[in-house]
Amino acid sequence: MRIDVVTIFPAFFDALDLSLIGKARERGIVKLGVHDLRAWTSDRHRTVDDTPYGGGAGMVMKPEPWGAALDEILTDDAVLIVPSPSGEVFTQPIARELAQTSHIVFACGRYEGIDQRVIDEYSERGRVRPMSIGDYVLNGGEVASIAMIEAISRLVPGVVGNPDSLVEESHEDGLLEYPIYTKPPLWRDRAVPDVLLSGNHAAISSWRHDQSIARTRAQRPDLLPPEGA
Ligand code: ADE
Repeated sequence: MRIDVVTIFPAFFDALDLSLIGKARERGIVKLGVHDLRAWTSDRHRTVDDTPYGGGAGMVMKPEPWGAALDEILTDDAVLIVPSPSGEVFTQPIARELAQTSHIVFACGRYEGIDQRVIDEYSERGRVRPMSIGDYVLNGGEVASIAMIEAISRLVPGVVGNPDSLVEESHEDGLLEYPIYTKPPLWRDRAVPDVLLSGNHAAISSWRHDQSIARTRAQRPDLLPPEGA
């Protein structure tokens, strides 16, 4: 898989040199290109923003540098993700779908966002997905892109060493994951649930399933089918 990022803050993406994603990059499983949008400006001040038409607070990212950058970076099979609090909410099924694509480009807006004509232009030419990582507002698309890149690339075969660890995770089966424990069996008078020490795999499976449902009901009832359905 190839991932390209266009941003005015390339240093945010240094974090992706670390951990499993860093190793996947070293091994060539995930190829990551980080590009400074200002490389596609042509004025002395390398301007990327301007005041909004119609008035209002804040600045808007100008279309010209974005057009020049995306014309160069997008390929015919690329999906363009534009992180935005007004996008579709990014979920595990979307991460799974995007993990199958060969090329993803992230366009990280700052300030109030990118001139809408950029999104309209590339929507006519290919696949564009404005994407939100949740109902809160960040200062720009960089942190959201890093979250999406990690969620997507860990699903690319070979990135996570033991693929079994991807199966029993929160959101993989529509439920939250059950609670987990390790040694010691007793810590500060708190014991690991007996069933987990029983060696009875059927009983452990059943306990974990019940715990998943109880946790989902407590934390995220919106994920469960409506009562009586
Ligand atoms: N940019 C600003 N806020 C964001 C959010 N919640 N998700 C994605 N991109 C953003």
